[in-house]
Amino acid sequence: MERIGRVSRRGFLLGAGAAAIGTSALGYGQGDAMRRIAPNRASEAFDPDVELELICKRDETSILTGRPTRVWRYAGHLVKGPANALTASPDAYLGPLLRFSKGQKVRIRLRNELPEETITHWHGLHVPMLMDGHPTAAIDPGETYVYEFDIRNRAGMYFYHPHTHEKTATQVYRGLAGAIIVEDEEERALALPSGAFEIPLVIQDRSFDDDNQLAYGDDMPTRMFGFYGDRALVNGRCNLTLDVASRPYRLRILNGSNARIYKLCWDDRTPLTVIGVDGGLLEKAETRAYVMLAPAERVDLIVDFTGRPQGSKLTMLSGEFYGLLPPMAQRMMGSDLAMGEAFPLFVARVTETSSDSWKAPEKLSTIRRFREADVANLDNPIPIAITMAHMAMLLNGRPYGHDDIQPCERIPVDSTQLIEIFYERAGMGMGMGMGMGMGMGMMGGGGMMRGRMGGMGMGRGMGRGMGMMGMMSMAHPIHLHGQQFEIVERSFAGDEDAYATIGEGFIDSGLKDTVLVAPGERLRIVKRFGDFKGRFMYHCHNLEHEDAGMMREFSVE
Ligand code: C2O
Ligand code: CU
Ligand code: CU
Repeated sequence: MERIGRVSRRGFLLGAGAAAIGTSALGYGQGDAMRRIAPNRASEAFDPDVELELICKRDETSILTGRPTRVWRYAGHLVKGPANALTASPDAYLGPLLRFSKGQKVRIRLRNELPEETITHWHGLHVPMLMDGHPTAAIDPGETYVYEFDIRNRAGMYFYHPHTHEKTATQVYRGLAGAIIVEDEEERALALPSGAFEIPLVIQDRSFDDDNQLAYGDDMPTRMFGFYGDRALVNGRCNLTLDVASRPYRLRILNGSNARIYKLCWDDRTPLTVIGVDGGLLEKAETRAYVMLAPAERVDLIVDFTGRPQGSKLTMLSGEFYGLLPPMAQRMMGSDLAMGEAFPLFVARVTETSSDSWKAPEKLSTIRRFREADVANLDNPIPIAITMAHMAMLLNGRPYGHDDIQPCERIPVDSTQLIEIFYERAGMGMGMGMGMGMGMGMMGGGGMMRGRMGGMGMGRGMGRGMGMMGMMSMAHPIHLHGQQFEIVERSFAGDEDAYATIGEGFIDSGLKDTVLVAPGERLRIVKRFGDFKGRFMYHCHNLEHEDAGMMREFSVE
């Protein structure tokens, strides 16, 4: 993978050929060395319904025309269980689609054939700490880690990806990611569009060098704001076109990008019919003009092509928005695709007629809501403050440290907790000197000023007299490991004009494990910490932020 400078991605590339990346992040040995646990082994007492092997390895695949692209990927095969438990994606780098049923016992043997340590996390699955892909469980090249767990989750789409200490962003970027679908009886009873009519879609952005190799912005703006690629890939492909029949489909979309936030909408303004989010089905379908999808969030859509003539097309776009990334960041980053600029994601083309139908029932599912009486700390919510110090985004003012559990991070097992996520306005932690330096650097690179971004930003923010903090504030997708949570309150105080471009796009009615928090927002969520004691992470799912330490742990005890 090439390292690229921030000056221009269209122009010259820095860095030497296929040289290893990752020198940017604090070295592994710097600061606190991460203790390691021994790789978990298979237990004789565990009798799996599904057993599979996943190998993390180097490979190459055709993405652009011409030279294939070197990637890292999950290759898998099924050892035991129903054939649909594992579906390879042979023509893309994405890992195989895994399909489990609630109640199944699953064993996964993860083998590391990469040139560096790794560990895999099953995002959204409620599993014990040892099975959660904690960074302390990382395995070296040549080693195998055996996961064994029960599927306790309700039906939904989940996500597997590396969770390696300070290497999550680069490992995911190189291609290590895949989707998991969990089914259950409640969902089966709905007879939702399935088989060829249920399409999982993983959206990721990437940049390529002139040799068709993945390019990564291994530079300060990327570490601060996240990586933003020049092209959006869907299921590992550019310009994906789905051939569809004139009937209802279920599109299950996962944002597998490192940092980019999408605003999903159809090009002809057909509203989106949302039936589910991160933690499965909503109680009722919701209709929205657009849906915001931040890294690691999932959305489950029904799209009905009934009545559309053969040959007609419907394009899923990421629509225009602003306010989620400071304008100065947009200017500093080399991406040819600014965040918030409109661009197409994929096309659905009607190539067949069909008279099949499916209509969402009045009630899709039952979500067990928390009652106030269930909540252990109604008057004393656990804070997750989005803070900044020394140019780094942090949570509660502290970087990640494995043995750095604070009093508010100790949680009794089997309790239900109220958590408040907010931006800490006080304390100009970043320091004026640094801020000025950055500003000057940005101004100095006159070539980086892009016409299309000129209008949207600096003037706006500065004109309103926002301080450095305001200028630096950006959205963060906050993710909590373990059980999904309920969003009980979302309030906003800030730039109303910017907010008007995103505010209708949050689906807060379902169960979530990742939530986009826009600058100026304050959220209250209620989450259960059931069943398993141990250390469970919570972090920003902007993967560059996560690697830079915007991650903490709850100690469930
Ligand atoms: Cu999807 Cu801790 O991550
Ligand atoms: Cu997770
Ligand atoms: Cu973040």
